[in-house]
Amino acid sequence: MADAVAVLDLTVSFGRFVALRDLTFRASYGHVQGVIGPNGAGKTTLLDVLTGKSRPRSGRVLLDGTIDLARLSDVARARAGIGRKFQKPSVFEALTVAENLDLALRRAARSAPVARLLETVGLAALRDRLAGTLSHGQKQWLEIGMVLIGEPKLLLLDEPVAGMSDEETAQTATLLRRLRAPDRSIVVIEHDMDFVAQVADGVTVLHEGRTLFEGSMAAARADRQVIEVYLGR
Ligand SMILES: Nc1ncnc2c1ncn2[C@@H]1O[C@H](COP(=O)(O)OP(=O)(O)O)[C@@H](O)[C@H]1O
Ligand SMILES: [Mg+2]
Repeated sequence: MADAVAVLDLTVSFGRFVALRDLTFRASYGHVQGVIGPNGAGKTTLLDVLTGKSRPRSGRVLLDGTIDLARLSDVARARAGIGRKFQKPSVFEALTVAENLDLALRRAARSAPVARLLETVGLAALRDRLAGTLSHGQKQWLEIGMVLIGEPKLLLLDEPVAGMSDEETAQTATLLRRLRAPDRSIVVIEHDMDFVAQVADGVTVLHEGRTLFEGSMAAARADRQVIEVYLGR
């Protein structure tokens, strides 16, 4: 399948500290790519580069094989279809679920049926509930709905199931599988390995700013180095 993103020899540093070193990473259309690895490995920094929040010192970040993402303006990047859900939900608690989506639609100057978005993220029955009264998991789904408004062809999720109940985690796995589409690539950072095994078509294991492993989750679980630095802990 075609690469949505190809990261080649990427180095990112903060002062003297090198957070990513000659990193290689690929994510394909139609796939969910899991990104795993110990805390501090550089997972969030990788997403920061894909969204322009951090600038690479060297290397290339190609969207669709040609567009250099690191050099796009924020506006051009949004137009290119990059959507990111951060770790912490940031919904408006004093607005209802539907009002949150309405507001996000207006801000993005888009029109999409709110009912369909609610259906997609499983919140149709809760459309008139104040967002502040939702469970942690329901807030995360609302936020995913808000990101979907931008019709992202590259959807980036940083630890979407952290803090969720087992049932919410299972429902999020179902949601992500439903969001998989031929014209969309989904990149998901997560520490819950059973969740990753359920949703990811492939995984990239980062360790100390480098790509340690790329392949299937089953192969990652059997890899001696991956077990040593991460899974065996
Ligand atoms: N803006 C920043 N300034 C300085 N150091 C940073 C910054 N962002 C990340 N780092 C450092 O880079 C390393 C990788 O961080 P991060 O990408 O957040 O790791 P992960 O998401 O895999 O836990 C960590 O050591 C972190 O402290
Ligand atoms: Mg992180």
